[in-house]
Amino acid sequence: MENCVSCSKLIDYHEIIECITGALDAKDPYTAGHSQRVSDLALKICTLMRLHEELSEKVHIAAHLHDIGKIGIPDAILNKEGKLNEREWEVIKRHPQIGADILSKSSHLAKMKDIILYHHERFDGLGYPAGLFGQNIPLGARIIAICDSIDAMTSIRVYRKAYSLEYCYLELEKNLGKMYDPAIGELVLEHWKELIRTIGTKMDSDNP
Ligand SMILES: [Fe+2]
Ligand SMILES: [Fe+2]
Repeated sequence: MENCVSCSKLIDYHEIIECITGALDAKDPYTAGHSQRVSDLALKICTLMRLHEELSEKVHIAAHLHDIGKIGIPDAILNKEGKLNEREWEVIKRHPQIGADILSKSSHLAKMKDIILYHHERFDGLGYPAGLFGQNIPLGARIIAICDSIDAMTSIRVYRKAYSLEYCYLELEKNLGKMYDPAIGELVLEHWKELIRTIGTKMDSDNP
């Protein structure tokens, strides 16, 4: 795994984070690299939003760890080829809570647990696990939700090819105020090309 330059100054956290995200990557190699790209994008958005350094670091670290709860999801479901049935989908939806529980075991990482717990909430309240809406969703979780979608859409999956950047842009635009915080989403669209370059290496290798 490559070192993340952006959080290398956080010596204490960094080793722990590499260790636990490495465990998830080993279990689910298909999404290996996803956490890194989501954290790179999230940090970039924090900079565009001119967030305070401390808050940016918190969001950045939470982004690295956002899917760590997938470690508690059975491989047969996590790596299933084809569509998930309703029961399997319910199991997948437990990963934010599992992640938050894992983080709560460390006094340092517990500060990020709400961001992880709510990263699948939607701005219109139709997300999970709590159905929070609007500004009730932690800011970091609203940022990560956008980054997560961008990386998911532009990645190849077992059951489909990667979507084009144009498709991804239009989906984001269509879902402002529905899935995504409209203010953050508009900022992302405004700086689209610059942000997409952040995950450029993957785009080059995955989308010939
Ligand atoms: Fe997730
Ligand atoms: Fe994710």
